[in-house]
Amino acid sequence: MPPKTAAMWKGRFSQATADLVQQYGESISYDWRLYPHDVAGSIAHARAQVKAGLLTDDEFSTIEKGLREIEKEIAAGGFEFSIELEDIHMNIESALTKRIGAVGGKLHTARSRNDQVATDTRLYCRSAIDDLLDYISALQGALLSQAEAHAGTILPGYTHLQRGQPVTVGHHLLAYVEMLARDKERLIDTRKRVNVCPLGSGALAGSTINLDREAIAAELGFDGVTTNSMDAISDRDYIAELLFALALCGGHLSRLSEDLILWCSSEFGFATLSDAHTTGSSLMPQKKNPDVCELTRGKTGRLYGNLVSLLTAIKGLPLTYNRDLQEDKEPLFDSIDTITMALKVNAEMIAEMKINEEVCEAAASDPLLLATDLADWLVKAGIPFRSAHELVGKAVAESVTKNIPLDELDLTQVDSAFTKDASSVFSLKKALAARTNPGAPSVANVKAQVARWKDA
Ligand code: ARG
Repeated sequence: MPPKTAAMWKGRFSQATADLVQQYGESISYDWRLYPHDVAGSIAHARAQVKAGLLTDDEFSTIEKGLREIEKEIAAGGFEFSIELEDIHMNIESALTKRIGAVGGKLHTARSRNDQVATDTRLYCRSAIDDLLDYISALQGALLSQAEAHAGTILPGYTHLQRGQPVTVGHHLLAYVEMLARDKERLIDTRKRVNVCPLGSGALAGSTINLDREAIAAELGFDGVTTNSMDAISDRDYIAELLFALALCGGHLSRLSEDLILWCSSEFGFATLSDAHTTGSSLMPQKKNPDVCELTRGKTGRLYGNLVSLLTAIKGLPLTYNRDLQEDKEPLFDSIDTITMALKVNAEMIAEMKINEEVCEAAASDPLLLATDLADWLVKAGIPFRSAHELVGKAVAESVTKNIPLDELDLTQVDSAFTKDASSVFSLKKALAARTNPGAPSVANVKAQVARWKDA
């Protein structure tokens, strides 16, 4: 008795697939989103079949038209997916044959779902990378506008969450612009390895029917074709790399979130987020919470988890295709969705963030932030840095025990190495202006960096 299953591989089976197995193995509930890439891949594949004399021009036109109609139907939400057909590849192929008849059955010649799914996910990754590059640029733009407006707004810079030395808000925000630029570089680099066409690798050993792989690749916008069929259909490096790039980008957004959470607390008060980008408490009427930042920080865990899921899924697989590989898609889609939302909402939120200049400057006005500058002053007077460090340490201790601000302490009493002129160090403006080396936070440097980034 022929099995009841609608699957396209049922020829050798005499029993229908168990319901639980169908539910367990289906991927259509999530891989449906590969449909535009699946259609594009099939059209390129069919065109190569014409060239190889396997399809007539008319048959090709019928197939192409059918695929385009199916694509439209899916886009419009009117397509009925079936879990009996497992995945997007068989759902589309089966719908095609239903629509255009037996000629639809020619499409899968010299192709397997194994090279098909690898092709689809590569096309998906490529288009996701292209979108993400824009979203990252938009977030950089928002940071850059704030950095430009606050190139001269003095802020304490922290190590160990203890005030260290003066910087500016602009310099602090530009640090994130740098991180995001490296995230983009990583994506651009990953794209090179994504953009290679596996179609023609078949199930694992190519095919006895030779289609023009270069032509298929060119039609799909790939830079070239893969060079080992076994590698091509079992490789998921390109997804792992992408998930790593997104995990790291998420890590950067998470650090930014943590900074903003601190900045928006009553304890810091350096910044205020707009009402549109904060939420209230159902109990405490006064609350205005930085939930977007907290969600970004929290969702970064998913990005890391997705990377580890995939790495774990592939680590023990013998060549070539194993169904474990189907587990690549949910982490991939989830990471793309998560980082996309994070980038978009953060760009919007940061563009509307208000920096509280007086609070920032007041926090930076503690003369202890210039203790290092005082040691530098001694060095310029000929004292070795280690001794200078110790002398200033003594001065700091005295300032603390006597409860006299460091800039009001009579330094000449602390050590004869200090002269009256030493107190000239205690000007924040001068201290910043002196930090002129590349990468340092003088206002002029920050302005130059803003200009450089705007150019880029
Ligand atoms: N849905 C499958 C996946 O995502 C497509 C490839 C199926 N290949 C197979 N030999 N069962 O991996």
